Amino acid sequence: MSSFKSISVAAAVLLAGSVSAQTFQRLGACPTLGCVFPPDQADFLAGQFFDIRLEVHAPKNGTEAIGLPPDEKFTFTLAKGDEAPKPVTEYFAIQDSKLENWTFSWYEDLFARDAKKPTVVDVRAKAYRRLALYEPGEYTATLNYNNGSSTKATWLVRDLAEERKTKNVVLFIGDGMTTNMITAARLIGHKSINGKYQSKMQMDKFPVLGHQMTHSIDSFITDSANSASAIYTGHKSTVNCLGVYADSSKSPFDDPKVETIAEIFHRLTGGHVGIVSTAFLADATPAGLTAHTRARSEYGHVVDTFLNGITNYTWTKWDGPDVLFGGGAEQFYTPYLNKTYYTEFAKKGYQILQNRTSLLAAPNTERALGVFTTSNMAKWLDRNVYRSNLNQSLSPTGDKKPALDQPGLKEMTLKAIDILSERSGDKGWFLMSEAASIDKMMHVLDYDRALGELLELDDTIKATVNKLNETNSLKETLILVTADHGHGFDVMGSVDTRYLAAQNVDRKKRDAIGVYQNSGLSQYQNTGNLTYTDSNFPKSWDPRYTLFQGLMADPDRRENWSVHKDGPRTPAVEVPEDSDDYYANPKDGKDGILLNGTLPVENDQGVHSLTDVPVFAMGPCQELFGGVYNSVDLFFGMAECLGLGRGTPPAEQ
Ligand SMILES: *[C@@H]1O[C@H](CO)[C@@H](O)[C@H](O)[C@H]1NC(C)=O
Ligand SMILES: *[C@@H]1O[C@H](CO)[C@@H](O)[C@H](O)[C@H]1NC(C)=O
Ligand SMILES: *[C@@H]1O[C@H](CO)[C@@H](O)[C@H](O)[C@H]1NC(C)=O
Ligand SMILES: *[C@@H]1O[C@H](CO)[C@@H](O)[C@H](O)[C@H]1NC(C)=O
Ligand SMILES: *[C@@H]1O[C@H](CO)[C@@H](O)[C@H](O)[C@H]1NC(C)=O
Ligand SMILES: *[C@@H]1O[C@H](CO)[C@@H](O)[C@H](O)[C@H]1NC(C)=O
Ligand SMILES: *[C@@H]1O[C@H](CO)[C@@H](O)[C@H](O)[C@H]1NC(C)=O
Ligand SMILES: *[C@@H]1O[C@H](CO)[C@@H](O)[C@H](O)[C@H]1NC(C)=O
Ligand SMILES: *[C@@H]1O[C@H](CO)[C@@H](O)[C@H](O)[C@H]1NC(C)=O
Ligand SMILES: *[C@@H]1O[C@H](CO)[C@@H](O)[C@H](O)[C@H]1NC(C)=O
Ligand SMILES: *[C@@H]1O[C@H](CO)[C@@H](O)[C@H](O)[C@H]1NC(C)=O
Repeated sequence: MSSFKSISVAAAVLLAGSVSAQTFQRLGACPTLGCVFPPDQADFLAGQFFDIRLEVHAPKNGTEAIGLPPDEKFTFTLAKGDEAPKPVTEYFAIQDSKLENWTFSWYEDLFARDAKKPTVVDVRAKAYRRLALYEPGEYTATLNYNNGSSTKATWLVRDLAEERKTKNVVLFIGDGMTTNMITAARLIGHKSINGKYQSKMQMDKFPVLGHQMTHSIDSFITDSANSASAIYTGHKSTVNCLGVYADSSKSPFDDPKVETIAEIFHRLTGGHVGIVSTAFLADATPAGLTAHTRARSEYGHVVDTFLNGITNYTWTKWDGPDVLFGGGAEQFYTPYLNKTYYTEFAKKGYQILQNRTSLLAAPNTERALGVFTTSNMAKWLDRNVYRSNLNQSLSPTGDKKPALDQPGLKEMTLKAIDILSERSGDKGWFLMSEAASIDKMMHVLDYDRALGELLELDDTIKATVNKLNETNSLKETLILVTADHGHGFDVMGSVDTRYLAAQNVDRKKRDAIGVYQNSGLSQYQNTGNLTYTDSNFPKSWDPRYTLFQGLMADPDRRENWSVHKDGPRTPAVEVPEDSDDYYANPKDGKDGILLNGTLPVENDQGVHSLTDVPVFAMGPCQELFGGVYNSVDLFFGMAECLGLGRGTPPAEQ
């Protein structure tokens, strides 16, 4: 996907940095030449498994060059509170691990990049795997290296109540969803009279509202992989990382891991796990629950971890989720390391579902893998309004036929709850349900499709609350609705699309935009004749007066602020091919205004933004989620509510 091309190019070449505008970094979260992961300020759940990675760097050239080989005799100690520091081997009663060595290179700034002069760094490193701290309190971890230099990390094992207060958790993630988008979705999906809405979003009805800060460990803008890691593990990480801190080695699989909420919940309680997403399943937000890799693009590895967990060394008892529903059939019919995962899942007793009809008909007693399309799932707008767009070669079997019978997020989520409830008994369940294409459609500036996905998420939440209420399990289920990051989206007025199309000059076309009193009222409920069983969607997606909406940072594009009836938008195209130089797509937004981008020209899409994102909470422990806090606090809140903080080592695992 091109949306991540620029991210992965950037992240592969550039590892961390320090100062000004486009910062390149030697290694994120390691400003000195001695690196400790988990780094300073890391918080842990008592009993949560994690790996330690130590690195000593010796830059061979560049501004930090020290002209010496890296220290091979570095030592590492750990101390709780005021206690005397103990060598790590003594602290955890483990063998010392072998010394590793490698080199890596990075660019110190844009000038070095343009001149193709990378700085080369020689590294000595060690890793200690599968450790846990059981006693709450503050710890000091110290790496001593280079004859007297030291890197200290203060770690906190949080002191959480051990009593379990909720049986189940549903975590809804509107990928990329912000308060501004919720406001816009409400405007088109709900009828208003004289400034008063006649109905509310389901999210609006949640009793507790919080704000979480989404920034990553080494950059203030996050991607979905490292924000998923923060929410699922309580540890901030680096762009593209899933369940690991990023080290500097080449392998994307040897980075220091941290255990996720799904793994801990399953290991300690035997509770069941469900994963639902409208993205391809190997995508970051679903992947983050089980995968542990520096590179979110290791899709084969991701799918293997869904089924088998970590296989390199015994990390945790993992026997697969009860429910895995979404898109991305290409990872299930194309072999990875000679294994075809439809077959692998079937061998482990999963029923394989490939369309909506069989999803709805499936028994609730068996575990289920539901993969309903190749690539990302069809958008709500295409499944419900512009259905001819489903006519593409995306069948989940890989036979190149269209995937016409796809479920929506609501059907997948309700079925997941049926299966989890049926199978989990007293043990309870944890379900993550992601509206992935809010983000994917905002990336391509397809605001209508993004808002359609958001309204579908809200409709799903409403149906979930009703279902749990009907089955008497609402009071034993914590429901959270949040996002992993935002996009700089907002609505600033309205557009008279008829007037816009009738003008010939761009500066005159801008008259079509109505601001303040000329914005008027939303036309999406008043015109048109679309009706749905659950009616909180627009009656028309194509009124004359549309929303004047957009993002803070864009590629070049042409805007006519009208719905894209022919399928998801392609705002910019590469000219010439393979030039990494993107211009407004001449076929997009005809009769619209040409707007030049502000992003670097290799971007064909919009990007994530800094904004805090909302957290709506309902159910047991809802009070833990009010106020303003860090994304990692979501993990600790869920873990506390599920009673997962264990002060003593479990007798057996
Ligand atoms: C690692 O150390 C060994 C032994 O000193 C050396 O032969 C090898 O070239 C080193 N590898 C790297 C990548 O520096
Ligand atoms: C550092 O050394 C490498 C390999 O010798 C070289 O390619 C690179 O240009 C050097 N970088 C700087 C900043 O001098
Ligand atoms: C540390 O001390 C040793 C012995 O005095 C010396 O050989 C080495 O170069 C020193 N290393 C650093 C990084 O200063
Ligand atoms: C297992 O670990 C080794 C070394 O730590 C690494 O090279 C390899 O890629 C890992 N494999 C997987 C599947 O994680
Ligand atoms: C996959 O199968 C081929 C052909 O049988 C074999 O050469 C290769 O080693 C296998 N790869 C793995 C990872 O098992
Ligand atoms: C749905 O899947 C079932 C089972 O694979 C298959 O028999 C049926 O034909 C499919 N229905 C459609 C509409 O594709
Ligand atoms: C589906 O697409 C194919 C190829 O683009 C086309 O030939 C066919 O007429 C389309 N069918 C429908 C029902 O739109
Ligand atoms: C749950 O159902 C009861 C009985 O129908 C109703 O009174 C109550 O408002 C419902 N609660 C929620 C949160 O929907
Ligand atoms: C209303 O419905 C009719 C018939 O279903 C359709 O032809 C027409 O285009 C619709 N009008 C609008 C404004 O959506
Ligand atoms: C606006 O652009 C879209 C996408 O190219 C196109 O489908 C639509 O017809 C255009 N609408 C108007 C009113 O020009
Ligand atoms: C937009 O960019 C094009 C070149 O890509 C340039 O010719 C044009 O002047 C720019 N327009 C504005 C309004 O800056």
